[in-house]
Amino acid sequence: MLELREAALAILLGTDAQAKVGGLLDLFDNYQNQKIALDVSRRIDSKDSILPGRPLKPELVLPRLVPKRRMDTPEGRAGLLHSLAHIEFNAMNLALDAIWRFPNMPKEYYEDWLKVAKEEAYHFSLVNEHLHSLGFSYGDFPAHNSLWEMVERTTDSVIARMALVPRTMEARGLDAVPAIRDRFKQIKDARAVEILEIILNDEIGHVLIGNRWFNFLCSKDNLSPIATYRELAAKYRAPVLKGPFNMVARLQAGFTAEELSLLEL
Ligand SMILES: [Fe+2]
Ligand SMILES: [Fe+2]
Repeated sequence: MLELREAALAILLGTDAQAKVGGLLDLFDNYQNQKIALDVSRRIDSKDSILPGRPLKPELVLPRLVPKRRMDTPEGRAGLLHSLAHIEFNAMNLALDAIWRFPNMPKEYYEDWLKVAKEEAYHFSLVNEHLHSLGFSYGDFPAHNSLWEMVERTTDSVIARMALVPRTMEARGLDAVPAIRDRFKQIKDARAVEILEIILNDEIGHVLIGNRWFNFLCSKDNLSPIATYRELAAKYRAPVLKGPFNMVARLQAGFTAEELSLLEL
């Protein structure tokens, strides 16, 4: 019988974006139908594989070299959608990585991340289909990799991963998506607005999952979530959070009132 964490690594290694989406949806269904076992204690080795598997394009460039997106040209609009597609592509990868890499977490941890992975595959498909309707595809523009870089920096620690990927990088998405949605609203791209609403709503759930497991790990070791977050953010060089913050979404995503009050300083 296939094993969930091994299978997650195999899908992570796949280089074709569509195959990754299909593999992930199958993985989710097969796990729900009990066709896949879960071995939480297995130590899995990715050998010398370069993670994640990804297509030859998009070309990866430094964030400052990604052109500014203008909403008054078709290329500009497609470029903005393309950057979202790239984030969703890496979001699939980061959820898969959370599953295979860290052993000995409760079963629900792996199930939560499997659900996240499935939703990221859905987001990638939604954005990519819309990009196709404008005559472009994933890979047509350069992209930057800052989301994945934070995944790479936190390969040695599940608590750092939970603190800095879902609770930091994905939470930044909660702040950023409303403004992007409004840019599409202004140009009356109703489909893009609809897609961004779906993404925003689902991402609240992803950050909630990050909070759930970060707080679980803190309480297991009797750590203060606030002090621990501060230490991890410094140790792993997390980006400094800048407002405006989406306080409503962040509250729904499980941040405490105290955590939110610290953001405003
Ligand atoms: Fe997403
Ligand atoms: Fe997400």
